[in-house]
Amino acid sequence: MKAIRLHGRGGPDQLVYEDAPQPHPGAGEVLVRVHAAGVIASWGETYSTRAGSVRVLPIPGHDLSGVVEEVGPGVNTLSRGSAVYALTAFDRDGAEAEYTIALPGELAPKPRTLDYVQAAAVPLATLTAWQALFDHANLVAGQTVLIHGAAGGVGVFAVQLARWAGAHVIATASAHNRDFLRELGANEIIDYTTTRFEEVVHGVDLVFDLVGGDTLQHSWQVVKPGGALVSVVSPRPSFEEAKAYDVRPVWFVVEPNREQLIQIGALIDAGKLRPVIETVLPLSQARQAYEQGARGHTRGKIVLRVVDE
Ligand SMILES: NC(=O)c1ccc[n+]([C@@H]2O[C@H](COP(=O)([O-])OP(=O)(O)OC[C@H]3O[C@@H](n4cnc5c(N)ncnc54)[C@H](OP(=O)(O)O)[C@@H]3O)[C@@H](O)[C@H]2O)c1
Repeated sequence: MKAIRLHGRGGPDQLVYEDAPQPHPGAGEVLVRVHAAGVIASWGETYSTRAGSVRVLPIPGHDLSGVVEEVGPGVNTLSRGSAVYALTAFDRDGAEAEYTIALPGELAPKPRTLDYVQAAAVPLATLTAWQALFDHANLVAGQTVLIHGAAGGVGVFAVQLARWAGAHVIATASAHNRDFLRELGANEIIDYTTTRFEEVVHGVDLVFDLVGGDTLQHSWQVVKPGGALVSVVSPRPSFEEAKAYDVRPVWFVVEPNREQLIQIGALIDAGKLRPVIETVLPLSQARQAYEQGARGHTRGKIVLRVVDE
């Protein structure tokens, strides 16, 4: 099969489009014919398996939509021909290939209102937003959340989910994303290129930080005592700062979750949530996709098309 493989540590220049062995599903596994794969804008691939051994020529990309091709022994919840989407675990080969292995607990039915390219833009970004807002921060209606990096892959879902939950949403982005974010549901938009958010925002219940660095550093002071600061960007928030400001710090790595993808799919099919895709490229151009993502100004997601619909 054709696949993207990483030929060394480094950046997108290490990605090669080439022939790779087609995987076969073992017990409890599912072989998926990948139709499209979402690109994680920031560079980063796990180089070891769960057991700790080194992954040789790993296939990146863990966001997929596709069709079940074959189920391994013991799998009775899925059948050949089912349209699916998933975030797959980071310590196995990923989805930037014609075929990949997924687990039943990762795969959910593809939202029926989305095509495969649209569906591939959903899992990682939406699960990250969902787990941040609801699992880690327990966001409820009436609270105020400040979302940094609101126009990016994760941010566009965080804005929509927070509004769906009944929160007041303040978003940071540059001016060209103002109207776009207002249409997505943000109540207030702060242009980070002209305004220091910490001078105009005070006493929020939650900051969801998708930017890091100075943005994280200046965020402690805008959270009300007892509030939370959730980050998914390295390095992790400091416990000392959190204690000084009486803010609960959270840092986490998104996890595959079939049940949450089913709920997310229902919201999408009900018209309450939508993916945003800036660029679609063929699988063979994965390197260009990552280079574009690394520039840090993608609106929504970049998706690799594996099968022409
Ligand atoms: N730990 C995890 O499980 C996990 C999961 C997913 C993502 N992440 C991390 O989360 C981060 C965000 O991911 P992503 O895919 O959403 O990124 P992304 O799509 O690359 O984000 C791009 C967006 O960031 C905005 N942006 C850039 N600088 C900004 C600033 N100083 N203030 C506000 N917005 C700014 C840009 O808006 P403008 O064009 O308007 O500047 C652009 O829309 C990445 O570091 C990623 O690695 C971690």
